[in-house]
Amino acid sequence: MTHHAPTVSFTLNGEAKTFVTEPDEKLLALLRREGYRGTKYGCGQGTCGACTVMLDGRAVYACILYAQQVEGREVRTIENVGTLDEPSEFQTELINAGAVQCGYCIPGMVMSATALMENEPTYDDEIAREYMDGNLCRCTGYEKIWVALRKVLDRREAAAAAGQKPDAHPHR
Ligand code: FES
Ligand code: FES
Repeated sequence: MTHHAPTVSFTLNGEAKTFVTEPDEKLLALLRREGYRGTKYGCGQGTCGACTVMLDGRAVYACILYAQQVEGREVRTIENVGTLDEPSEFQTELINAGAVQCGYCIPGMVMSATALMENEPTYDDEIAREYMDGNLCRCTGYEKIWVALRKVLDRREAAAAAGQKPDAHPHR
């Protein structure tokens, strides 16, 4: 009997895609081999957050999901949120705050922050910390990352208070 490698089809950064995969392949491995290398491999065990992507609008760890689990669903990676040429608002503030050291944790942080901004109507510290809780950073001590995030959230809160509809997409 011939072995047909299974495929998985899902929406990736707004485009319908189909990839060949193996039953034990993790989503993170698939993304990286397909060139979506902004999503990082850290612990591989669902504890560091370096591999955070959005699945149907929620931040998830791509290292513990099997690729086949995203069949028919919607995945967004950091490449869809900000690029070198067009950084998102949060990425810009991270740079302004000097919050990026090795940078390895940053894409995951940005994805969690994106989930926060897109899912929550308000951004009090407790809610924001809950969203960012699953993203570890070994370099910065978090303070500057927090300062950068708070700046973006404060700006959104001010805009909302002024009656402007906050931009649902952090990509300016
Ligand atoms: S690499 Fe996925 S949580 Fe650490
Ligand atoms: S900047 Fe190095 S792990 Fe966060």
